[in-house]
Amino acid sequence: MSDWAIVTGASRGIGREAAARFLKEGWRVLSLSRQDCPVAGVLPVRVDLGEPGWEPLVERTLRETLGAAPGRVCLIHNAALYAHDDALSLSAEHLRRVLEVNIVAPAQLNRLVRGYLSPGSSILYVGSTLSEKAVRGAASYVTSKHAIAGLMRATCQDLAGTQVHTVCVCPGFTDTEMLREHIGDNTEVRTSVAGRTTFGRLITPEEIAGVLFQCALTPVLHGSLVHANLGQIET
Ligand SMILES: NC(=O)c1ccc[n+]([C@@H]2O[C@H](COP(=O)([O-])OP(=O)(O)OC[C@H]3O[C@@H](n4cnc5c(N)ncnc54)[C@H](OP(=O)(O)O)[C@@H]3O)[C@@H](O)[C@H]2O)c1
Repeated sequence: MSDWAIVTGASRGIGREAAARFLKEGWRVLSLSRQDCPVAGVLPVRVDLGEPGWEPLVERTLRETLGAAPGRVCLIHNAALYAHDDALSLSAEHLRRVLEVNIVAPAQLNRLVRGYLSPGSSILYVGSTLSEKAVRGAASYVTSKHAIAGLMRATCQDLAGTQVHTVCVCPGFTDTEMLREHIGDNTEVRTSVAGRTTFGRLITPEEIAGVLFQCALTPVLHGSLVHANLGQIET
């Protein structure tokens, strides 16, 4: 009987490091993203979570790999889109695309994975500091990250009596491709962003992976938002 981590967006960044960490700790790992996870030993399932219709492939893969009686399962909702946009000019098509990946896919995955969640299992959501506040120019992301906190809280209530726990981990500025795409390669901007934590540096994706792993082992956190932002300096 194996423990399984199912990680969305494990092709890079925080998801890739989470896959590596769970694997190192002896769990088997399934990755769900458009590109494969580069960590040897991780089982890749190529899906575009933004395109409805991915569910049958995932359902079949779960049946064939996890089998009837897996050990603990940790489902990590990590994949997300971060787009520059504005609350006063969001197009319906764009907003739907972001919410499809960031909110609808996690809810659908919960439904597909539900039957495999034995006692000791967990559902971990990756939120953001923007799960609780907003910045300019990121309306769809801010909206989806607030929604992910709400979905975690609803999950907590609906898991009552199952011995399965859920947590929303909210990273701060983490040194991944997403952050680099967002702030660009300019060293001055990077230094200024790093200076917005009280430690004066960016968080590593390995650090967030470590927090996710601890959350998977810690049922007393059930229903919590866990802040993992290295003491972000508020401006
Ligand atoms: N980096 C930060 O500073 C930071 C701060 C706060 C919160 N977070 C959160 O942490 C999580 C991971 O962020 P990250 O920085 O590691 O991001 P990243 O480097 O951009 O990685 C995002 C992952 O999401 C996957 N993904 C995106 N669209 C997808 C789709 N349509 N279908 C399937 N997978 C898709 C990507 O895989 P493919 O391209 O292969 O599909 C990729 O593996 C996100 O939820 C993000 O909001 C990050």
